Amino acid sequence: MFVEQTLREGLKTHFFGRKIYAFGSIDSTNNCAKAIAGCGAAEGTVVIAEQQTSGKGRLGRLWIANPNENLTFSVVLRPSIAPDTLSVLPFYVAVAVAQAVEKIAGVQVECKWPNDLLIHGKKFAGILIEGSVKQNTVDHVVIGIGMNVNQQHFPADLAPKATSLRLETNREINRVQVFKETLLSLENHYKQTTSSGFDTVVPLWLSRTTMLNKQISVLQQGHTITGIMKGLSREGGLVVLADGTEKVVLAADTTVVGM
Ligand code: BTN
Repeated sequence: MFVEQTLREGLKTHFFGRKIYAFGSIDSTNNCAKAIAGCGAAEGTVVIAEQQTSGKGRLGRLWIANPNENLTFSVVLRPSIAPDTLSVLPFYVAVAVAQAVEKIAGVQVECKWPNDLLIHGKKFAGILIEGSVKQNTVDHVVIGIGMNVNQQHFPADLAPKATSLRLETNREINRVQVFKETLLSLENHYKQTTSSGFDTVVPLWLSRTTMLNKQISVLQQGHTITGIMKGLSREGGLVVLADGTEKVVLAADTTVVGM
């Protein structure tokens, strides 16, 4: 069970995690963070839970993680950016988490569009970002991170594509250390992301993806497009060259062909 005092002890950030709400069990840390952000919670406030009863994934899916083995937490942000640039945030979070995990676990982390983090081609973490815009101004954004840290067994349907830091390193990983390093990395990249946005963070994200210039399959609303990934659009979409034309895909599931 997480305790606020332990999570804050030795934390090297200035404002990420200065206030932490730690729960044994909660429906979703994103839901809680959104509720407190709506009531004025300060930027950097964290909600963390040992267990989520309705953890949310992308595209309305569930995020299921064993208690006492993983990390599920959300951070409230109040970025001074235009609503149409919010699409940069998943790339910022992915790069920041990847760097933190590499530092602690010593394994190379890949980014998979739109919001997955992989090790050796298997997913160990996902990001869910939810924003609130009022009168064409960003009021707050909640970034939710789910990370498989020490989980060693996954349901049969997930096992072929899911992994954890423990499975990839063959050692138990200190969850609190990963949490603190992740908050520090998020804070370190935050200023640059909100000032120079897409141009800084996207090249870092692209340098970590194995999808670029590869043949990929994009499953979107029941139909599949196969093409070459050429990059990212300004809205954060995937640029795919298919049948001689470049298409921008905004929400889909992707697979690198042959993986
Ligand atoms: C995905 O890969 O589909 C995104 C998963 C995001 C899960 C995290 S766990 C903490 C936060 N609270 C939630 O309900 N979801 C996010």
